[in-house]
Amino acid sequence: MSIGWIKAKEYSFNSFLLLERFQIRLMLENDAWTHDKAKWRKAAGLALAANPSVAWYLKRRCPECASIVDKLTTEAPKGASAREVRAAEIAALSSVEDFTIYTTPEKMAQSCDFMRGWNKERLFGLADLSGKTALDVGAGSGRLAFAAAEKAAWVYASEPVGTLREFMRDKITKEGIANVRVLDGFVESLPFPDNTFDIVMSGHVVGDDLGKELAELERVCKPGGWLLNVPGDSENDLPSQPELIRRGWEELHYVGSFGKNVFIHRKRKT
Ligand SMILES: C[S@@+](CC[C@H](N)C(=O)[O-])C[C@H]1O[C@@H](n2cnc3c(N)ncnc32)[C@H](O)[C@@H]1O
Repeated sequence: MSIGWIKAKEYSFNSFLLLERFQIRLMLENDAWTHDKAKWRKAAGLALAANPSVAWYLKRRCPECASIVDKLTTEAPKGASAREVRAAEIAALSSVEDFTIYTTPEKMAQSCDFMRGWNKERLFGLADLSGKTALDVGAGSGRLAFAAAEKAAWVYASEPVGTLREFMRDKITKEGIANVRVLDGFVESLPFPDNTFDIVMSGHVVGDDLGKELAELERVCKPGGWLLNVPGDSENDLPSQPELIRRGWEELHYVGSFGKNVFIHRKRKT
């Protein structure tokens, strides 16, 4: 199902040359993420067969996926026209539209509903950031990090995608932002000691392995500090998160700028 973040026609298939190893693995190793596996395999196979340098990159960048790339390209239909190849490229780019939009971070503020419709007061209302040291996990292009930096003493933005890290660093330089530092890092194993931050926040990051991810967010938060889940507004109703409530998070609701339900969460670390 499309999340409406990209116009795939505007993207070159070379965008896949900007993917990180973990993204290639997620995309190729297990295609359970797509509801139409046959369509994905055909599109990816055809596009990769027609773009050998992209296939080469995916295999070199993610050696554990090399045999999958070979299988996709070997099984791709032969003798496709240029028009069919472009249609396959567009279908493949659309299938991973989150990864595709991260190759053009400058478009995210306008293209992604969670950024376009969001008001930073939603963050400020959840916890007092004044003078605090905050961490934004999976910071993306920095929606939460740069908002927090208006109040906090220091903000660390951890983000595993290089194009997004560079976007945030460029913004810091361009705008002379003195209190944000950007670094690599996965939510499953954050590169910080225990009890480091007053505020640990994220949006659209946890969910794949909730227990492990929440434990890691909690580990790096100081006792008495706040854990925040702030997904931003959405053009679709966001669901309530009973699993977070069960784990001791407070759930708050508002109707967002698109007239849809948004649920945000916080938990004070004891
Ligand atoms: C939909 S974006 C949200 C970006 C930002 N948190 C926001 O709300 O504006 C999801 C982000 O999570 C990052 N991400 C994906 N897998 C991750 C992981 N395992 N650990 C940390 N971040 C991850 C992505 O690179 C991307 O920046």
